[in-house]
Amino acid sequence: MREHLILWVNGIRREVRGGDAFLTLSGWLRDRLGLVGTKIMCAEGDCGACTVLVAEPADSGTPRWLPIDSCIRFLFQLDGCHVVTVEGLAKDGGLAPVQQAMVDCHGSQCGFCTPGFVMALAGGCAAKSRGESLDWRKELSGNLCRCTGYVSIFEAAARAETEATWIAERFADASWAVEGARLRRESLDIRGDLDGVTMRATCPATVAEALAVRRETDARVVAGATDLGVLWNKGKLRPRHWLDLSRVVELRGILVEESAGAVGLATLVAGPLATWTDMLAVCSERCGEAVAVLEAFGGPQIRHVGTLGGNIVNGSPIADSLPLLFAMEATLGLASATATRRVPIDSFYKGYKQLDLAADELLVDVRMPLPAPGDILRLVKVSRRRDLDISTFTSAIHLRCDGDRIASARIAFGGVGPTVVRMRHTEAALAGQPFTEETFRRAGDVAVNEIRPLTDVRGSSEYRLQLARNVLLKVFHEQRVAVG
Ligand SMILES: Cc1cc2nc3c(=O)[nH]c(=O)nc-3n(C[C@H](O)[C@H](O)[C@H](O)COP(=O)(O)OP(=O)(O)OC[C@H]3O[C@@H](n4cnc5c(N)ncnc54)[C@H](O)[C@@H]3O)c2cc1C
Ligand code: FES
Ligand code: FES
Repeated sequence: MREHLILWVNGIRREVRGGDAFLTLSGWLRDRLGLVGTKIMCAEGDCGACTVLVAEPADSGTPRWLPIDSCIRFLFQLDGCHVVTVEGLAKDGGLAPVQQAMVDCHGSQCGFCTPGFVMALAGGCAAKSRGESLDWRKELSGNLCRCTGYVSIFEAAARAETEATWIAERFADASWAVEGARLRRESLDIRGDLDGVTMRATCPATVAEALAVRRETDARVVAGATDLGVLWNKGKLRPRHWLDLSRVVELRGILVEESAGAVGLATLVAGPLATWTDMLAVCSERCGEAVAVLEAFGGPQIRHVGTLGGNIVNGSPIADSLPLLFAMEATLGLASATATRRVPIDSFYKGYKQLDLAADELLVDVRMPLPAPGDILRLVKVSRRRDLDISTFTSAIHLRCDGDRIASARIAFGGVGPTVVRMRHTEAALAGQPFTEETFRRAGDVAVNEIRPLTDVRGSSEYRLQLARNVLLKVFHEQRVAVG
């Protein structure tokens, strides 16, 4: 096992030994390399000021430059990768097109957010040069500016986009990726002192190795670190030993398995390390209703690293993936070094952040049946802001109709209790009933007796109860023409 990190920053190969491996990427860039163009503002993934581009070497194909929030990524997770900071964009003394566009369009005032916007713009240009469709409103939804306003930044984006290919040319030399790909296949075991505390990070390359570490140690599992990185920065989490899954390729796959028996029936099979970007790509093809919720999941910087498995195991009652997974009756594959088992998702949660997951187990796959042709599936997220906001209330409603009757209903609400709730009484109130407003009103009466939402900063209990009623009526009014 290798005991040090190797990564590239702005084209320069770096080796990192000891305690520095446990710094956040932004802390290491600023404090150790002096690359202070990367700003730290919120330190919790919300503002994008710390955005950098990261490419992970692939065994085949060109590495993809993706914007991520460097304040909530641990350095040990980046072994074998290439990081580009705002200092790495300019070439031969001239500004890169994204930087020049910000100057020309007056996209900066105090300048604190500017490097992050520049890197997000560079990420958008990289996406465009890969042939991906580009919507700047979505692409920049992970960045905040408090003084310029966004109009001039969007103008800069439109201007930068006309020269999007510069980024592929700027980073055309992918010779680092050959060594990087080999490094990512190796396991790491790193130890060092950080602030007087002896730390360890084990980064296995296979599931078997990860399960052995799980059995033998109490290491804290980390995947994308978008939940844990925030806790770390707030000082609420100080594990001495990390078990980093991010290089276990076996846990990353995502595919749609067609049913052999019935046309149109299929199951999404995902490794827990499937990111929200991966999920979006598959759902765009096969589960269109999930797209709006996935596009509102964090910003691009979060979606490129945050994982499905992390969202499930973090177990927040307002996790945005959970109502969908509940309503589609997803099942979870859990494995230890000695056994595997499969549990329905709604029996995985025993109470607030209490899971049916043993200390030696890992989540190893997620199987979610996809809606059949003709099914109604509606996901509704309510939050104070449209972009990058924590949900007040989440819901998924999956109906199968037979003529103008509801044959079956699967409903899950989030933000209404200590866990996401499968609304079985509400489902029973709908099943077998005519598809009428009266049916949905009566189901609403049942729903408000099935949940006990809290009042908190995001909304009162009464508001959430009203949402529970309203979301049912919303589905009725949206779908009545189709069903009637
Ligand atoms: C700015 C910002 C915006 C966000 N927006 C949203 C949003 O819109 N909707 C939403 O639902 N969430 C949101 N989140 C929360 C977070 O991004 C998600 O929950 C994400 O999916 C977590 O995945 P991760 O890989 O980063 O998890 P990590 O932080 O790496 O881990 C989360 C938990 O899962 C455990 N874990 C991870 N993988 C496994 C495994 N395979 N087996 C066992 N345990 C495992 C870890 O030990 C940890 O307890 C946001 C977070 C930030 C910082
Ligand atoms: S500093 Fe705000 S997202 Fe990193
Ligand atoms: S220019 Fe000041 S915060 Fe954006």
